[in-house]
Amino acid sequence: MVKYIGSKRVLVPVIEKLARQLPVRTVCDLFAGTTRVSQGLRRAGLSVHCNDLAAYSEALGFAYIAADETLDRARIRELLDHLSGLPPEHGYFTETFCIQSRFFQPHNGMRVDAIRNEIERLDLSPVERGVLLTSLMEAADRVDSTCGLQMAYLKRWAARSFNDLELREPKPVPGPAGTVSRRDANELVGSLGDFDCAYLDPPYNQHSYFSNYHIWETLMRWDAPEHYGVACKRVDCKTTKSAYNLRRSAWQAFSSLIERLPTPWMIVSFNNEGFHDPDDVAALLSEKGCLWSVAIDFKRYVGAQIGIFNPSGEKVGQVSHLRNRELLFVVGPDQAALDAAVHGLAPTDTADVQQALFWSSSQATQRARRYSHSGPNS
Ligand SMILES: C[S@@+](CC[C@H](N)C(=O)[O-])C[C@H]1O[C@@H](n2cnc3c(N)ncnc32)[C@H](O)[C@@H]1O
Repeated sequence: MVKYIGSKRVLVPVIEKLARQLPVRTVCDLFAGTTRVSQGLRRAGLSVHCNDLAAYSEALGFAYIAADETLDRARIRELLDHLSGLPPEHGYFTETFCIQSRFFQPHNGMRVDAIRNEIERLDLSPVERGVLLTSLMEAADRVDSTCGLQMAYLKRWAARSFNDLELREPKPVPGPAGTVSRRDANELVGSLGDFDCAYLDPPYNQHSYFSNYHIWETLMRWDAPEHYGVACKRVDCKTTKSAYNLRRSAWQAFSSLIERLPTPWMIVSFNNEGFHDPDDVAALLSEKGCLWSVAIDFKRYVGAQIGIFNPSGEKVGQVSHLRNRELLFVVGPDQAALDAAVHGLAPTDTADVQQALFWSSSQATQRARRYSHSGPNS
């Protein structure tokens, strides 16, 4: 799975377990990113629709959410063998991301160019294409020379960048097959089908995913865009903005999404590093039904652990703090079902979570409870 800021790796087991215990069978993940959470929801037996604005998320969605047992995996392995054996080519990717910038070593960049050109020529179904693109993106991610963001590359080559690019088959995810879209969540909500639950994990702050992962976007679109700056970002990074990344529009975007969402249940992730006050989020959500929430402290993303770097990869500072707080809200129409699902969470579900604070609430009243090893009720 690719490195991704804001990815819910630590929370997936908790969300997956919650989903198993809530009275829901269908869910839409409107800001799916890596699709990690969508995959957890699929494993929990739910029928999942995953959506995101990013082209790379759509490819991941085809590979991990839409792929089902009808996918001919023997053919996929043959195609991966064929792509792995192609002679390297010096194309846009090598020139832009290995010569003009140093995100990847040229021996790997030239293989990316050859493989990506061939994927464009092959006659593929959308799922096959998503599986091959995912395999290529994940292979490139394993040999990159970044801290996990594509705003800058390391001054000295990362040790992993010397390895050879290796295509692997994206593993099938058990559970019912789902569907994928690439839409603005606030537009999609107007035509959303009949879902029992929505999972929402919007961007929290000004950092644009389109800019932070511009190389994956270009690798998927394969449109050889004009670029600017040391990081060779696509020129449309200057104009492509999500309403969730602007302080002046983020609350309006989020609150109008919540108000218009027709699903009876919602699971919402939030982060204390964002624009919004968690109390405002809790008040907004409590208007939709019974509310429970959990706050979890954990280590910030790897880039924050390493420090702050200038565009040439020199360390120029320390980040202000190394832990952040993730908030998870669950909203639904049935207090008894909510209590049952929440109380089914065992302390081991949050084993790598430090100092978790559990509290549950009905409508706007909240009772804070200190979490201890004997469980959320103690
Ligand atoms: C916090 S990340 C989601 C991370 C995801 N839950 C995971 O575990 O990988 C937020 C995502 O929202 C997407 N996004 C930003 N604005 C959007 C919009 N208006 N509609 C849909 N997706 C959007 C970004 O591309 C990004 O992938």
